[in-house]
Amino acid sequence: MNPPRKDIPAQAIQKLADSKSLAVITGAGVSAESGVPTFRGKDGLWKNYQPHQLATPMAFHDDPGLVWEWYHWRRQTVLACLPNPAHNAIARMEERVKDFTLITQNVDRLHARAGSERVLELHGDLHRARCSECSAITDLEGQEGVVVCELCGGAMRPNVVWFGESLDIRILEEAYRACGRSDCLIVAGTSNVVQPAASLAYAALENNGYVLEVNLDPTPLTGSATDTVLGKAGEVLEELVKLAFGES
Ligand code: APR
Repeated sequence: MNPPRKDIPAQAIQKLADSKSLAVITGAGVSAESGVPTFRGKDGLWKNYQPHQLATPMAFHDDPGLVWEWYHWRRQTVLACLPNPAHNAIARMEERVKDFTLITQNVDRLHARAGSERVLELHGDLHRARCSECSAITDLEGQEGVVVCELCGGAMRPNVVWFGESLDIRILEEAYRACGRSDCLIVAGTSNVVQPAASLAYAALENNGYVLEVNLDPTPLTGSATDTVLGKAGEVLEELVKLAFGES
């Protein structure tokens, strides 16, 4: 059992405990303690794979088999992982705050497996495919190789947002609204370098919202956030929720 952390700001505890409108933004660092690789850390996916060969429309056009092989591997990897205390702490926040929005860049669905329901998946999800021709969506359970649309025979692609592609504007607008009206925003486990997700926290700051960053390393948000706690999301968020809401 880890000793309780002493570096959680009293204001963070009070803002979460009193929050009437809470938003949480997460990145790959929140799933790291579940065993899911991050993208830019020392063992990050982009250290061993080239994004332009695997996560762009051109990559899919040039070699759909290679892209599907990588995404099937990522999906199997996350299916073998379990939610960690960070996911569970965020699910507890949702139970306690009526106006709650979780905005995740993660595509692993571990938040949903931890019980989170009001989740905006900015970058899509690994577990479904979308037809390049008719946009039909299908679950990938049990699928292998290049996936073909059952409706139109078109080539199906992973239901994720690739580099160079736009996010779903309705999801993005809802995320901005949630951050803009929040009295407390927690940004956890993200390097804050990928747009437009990296701009969302400023919608809260511009409206005098309290912004707590929780990350293993400093990011471009550090210094602008009201408070930053450098540490593991699983440890920090679990302790923060205990201090704000009491034992589970
Ligand atoms: N607890 C907290 N933070 C952690 C932990 C942990 N246990 N482990 C790693 N981190 C931090 C790292 O310090 C890093 O700053 O998590 C961050 C992960 O950053 P990235 O790997 O860049 O992941 P993310 O910010 O989610 O990337 C955004 O980039 O490649 C695209 O679409 C992909 O959604 C992804 C987007």
